[in-house]
Amino acid sequence: MNPVKQEGRTATEEAVRMSRETLTITDNRTGKTCEIPIKDGTIRAMDLRQIKKDAKDFGMMSYDPSFNNTALCHSKITYIDGDAGILRYRGYPIEELAEKSTYLETAYLILYGELPNAKQLEHWSYDITHHTFIHESIKKFLDGFHYDAHPMGMMISTIAALSTFYPEAKDIFNEESRRKQTYRLIGKMPTLAAFAYRHTLGMPFAYPDNELSYTGNFLNMLFKTTELKYRPNPTLERALDILFILHADHEQNCSANAMRCVGSSHVDPFSATAAATAALYGPLHGGANEEVLRMLMEIRSVGRVPEFIKKVKAGEGKLMGFGHRIYKNYDPRARIIKHIADQVFEIMGKNPLLEIALECERIALEDDYFVTRRLYPNVDFYTGLIYQSMGFPMTMFPVLFAIPRTSGWIAQWEEMLLDPEQKIARPRQVYLGADQRAYVPMELRK
Ligand code: ACO
Repeated sequence: MNPVKQEGRTATEEAVRMSRETLTITDNRTGKTCEIPIKDGTIRAMDLRQIKKDAKDFGMMSYDPSFNNTALCHSKITYIDGDAGILRYRGYPIEELAEKSTYLETAYLILYGELPNAKQLEHWSYDITHHTFIHESIKKFLDGFHYDAHPMGMMISTIAALSTFYPEAKDIFNEESRRKQTYRLIGKMPTLAAFAYRHTLGMPFAYPDNELSYTGNFLNMLFKTTELKYRPNPTLERALDILFILHADHEQNCSANAMRCVGSSHVDPFSATAAATAALYGPLHGGANEEVLRMLMEIRSVGRVPEFIKKVKAGEGKLMGFGHRIYKNYDPRARIIKHIADQVFEIMGKNPLLEIALECERIALEDDYFVTRRLYPNVDFYTGLIYQSMGFPMTMFPVLFAIPRTSGWIAQWEEMLLDPEQKIARPRQVYLGADQRAYVPMELRK
């Protein structure tokens, strides 16, 4: 029988090669050697535990603050190649989805792994649209917030509060229940966001309009005033929809990790989503778009950009909207966003801060400090300018990130729940504190 050839190797050669998919580690403290299997380019951290100084030793651990080089899970949702500037949801390039898909279709893809057929999309859109209303009591929570409460704070609280209205959401291993909570979360996020926004303005809440698209309805709930029927500007509606597609998932980022980590305790998805939203709120994550605008306003004029960049290089602050843990090349989302910005500015007029942003980018892309550290504009660098031109106040920017990211969070959460290898997330530590010591009575303390 002819041996099966793989990349020019015979089956026997392949078997030998495969058997060498291992890592050999020599512990110089003991002189002992162990061989650890390599799978998918990784070793299992638990395999390190066999490396011990002596029988009493706990075993070797890896130390990886902020998970720089630790894979937490196997995932089939989002692929990123940071060096090549590639982002794909379930294999589909972000550029194609931004051009041809809608947010709701993309959310379906992210959650269920395949693009929906016409019937599936119709049902999915119907189910999301018919879960946009929130319980009237939620409005009372919102009324309790101060007029200048940050909408992300209101979002986090009201998302968590949803769990008290749907106690059956605790039944997380029931597929039907998970599906229902998914409709609720994706459906109600825009409503909570719009109501939080109108609360800050002291405006009456505008209820969902089921005839409008997901983003069209969101704009309706935000901006409807006295007109009988709100009609969103189709270019702005589509621009927001594309921005939602770009923000739908981004594999194991800080908030997805929060969703998985909190969800691993088997809490209900509303509580886990509130935790993920809190993680997103921080200025190093989803809060960065708000910080970019504050930074541009602080710079004030194109002429002051070099001075600002000098300060950043001296370690006095950061160029917000620049840099990324994964992308060490241009963030592919930033490219698409620049294009959307042109369309929005054509309708709404050019944002006066754009010139300052462009000058920051121009200088940074040529400057050794940024080039050597491979710092490029990330998704947040231009989104703030677009949102501001569309009429959103800065405090709403992270909210506009949280709404579409909900589909990604739920997909990550569900993948974690159904993965038989996952348990409650519980990292280890390297304890460097005091050794055991006797309690010191007050009169003897310094
Ligand atoms: N401005 C100036 N210097 C920067 C910036 C920046 N925006 N980002 C990183 N650096 C510098 C760091 O000071 C560090 O320099 P050093 O090597 O001399 O110490 C080097 O570049 C590497 O940076 P790290 O902080 O190690 O990179 P890390 O991967 O941990 O951080 C992060 C990534 C948090 C995004 C960072 O680049 C940053 O703070 N950027 C600004 C905030 C921002 O835009 N966040 C949005 C990220 S995208 C998102 O979450 C949607």
